Amino acid sequence: ATGLNAKAKSAGKLYFGSATDNSELTDTAYVAILDNNSEFGQLTPANSMKWDATEPSQGTFTFSGGDQIANLAKSNGQLLRGHNCVWYNQLPSWVTSTSWTSSELLSVVQTHCSTIVSHYKDAWDVINEPFNDDGTFRTDVFYTVTGTQYITTALQAARAADPNAKLYINDYNIESTGAKATAMLNLVKQLKSAGVPVDGVGLQCHFIVGEVPTSLQSVMQQFTALGVEVAITELDIRMTLPETQALLTQQQKDYQSVVAACMAVEGCVGITVWDYTDKYSWVPSTFSGQGDACPWDSNLQKKPAYTGIMTAL
Ligand code: G3I
Repeated sequence: ATGLNAKAKSAGKLYFGSATDNSELTDTAYVAILDNNSEFGQLTPANSMKWDATEPSQGTFTFSGGDQIANLAKSNGQLLRGHNCVWYNQLPSWVTSTSWTSSELLSVVQTHCSTIVSHYKDAWDVINEPFNDDGTFRTDVFYTVTGTQYITTALQAARAADPNAKLYINDYNIESTGAKATAMLNLVKQLKSAGVPVDGVGLQCHFIVGEVPTSLQSVMQQFTALGVEVAITELDIRMTLPETQALLTQQQKDYQSVVAACMAVEGCVGITVWDYTDKYSWVPSTFSGQGDACPWDSNLQKKPAYTGIMTAL
């Protein structure tokens, strides 16, 4: 076992994977590493399966960007994680600017989820980021118009579209005990007791160097105790720039502890980094002055973080 995915699989996990984006696929040096099944056994499209990309106008579906990544995964023998069916962000304006009745919007959600889930296999973030940080539901168009009914509709549509796909609810700041993790636990409990199909909880894990939550493993165990699997879906660990040796060493420890938490939880099926290289990380454009969050640097060289992951695997 020479790479991250090979090591993860020999240790009993399903995959170690990476997010990627279509605009990056013209970078041949980048793709050469992404294509290496020994490093990455799973891909998540960072943007091209989102609602604005897949159904830009009502009932008109475009799969070209998503297909490019799905085909890459297929030709590399990699699993695919669909991302995502329902999210408040990157919505086309026809979704947000229409005055829907609840039944109209539920029908829109049903059509969207069923169409994209039947087009792509393996696993899906069916519901993305439904909660505010205080554990209340995010008052986006879906919740405002339908309450939590959109969650049920989306999951049922996804199950009907592909009975074999693993259906997830994915969120951030649920990686430590607190109001938001409790809200997710309660949602999963309610859905399961109502017979709504939900297979997994995705913990995004967008962390800060030196601030990895100590309760990560116990939170994952609380989810798996409910009878769902968990996955680390969007891991990166950012630092305040400039990078120093001390920060890189702490980042190595942090990556090691996150991966070790997944290894310690039987129902944690795999880990995905939110792109493997600092060259294409979303962090600097969102958090000014922060970055260097990935296990490969912007010259596509492995960082100490890579060794941290390997050690934990
Ligand atoms: O496609 C346009 C391009 O035409 C335009 O020229 C360019 C100029 O800004 O923007 C391009 O769109 C950008 C898109 O990424 C594709 O690169 C958007 O501005 C930019 O906002 C968008 O950012 C994405 C972000 O989600 C949006 O919320 C990131 O790439 C993506 O990594 C990030 O991913 C999210 C997950 O979906 C959910 N969890 C958090 C995670 C990080 O924010």
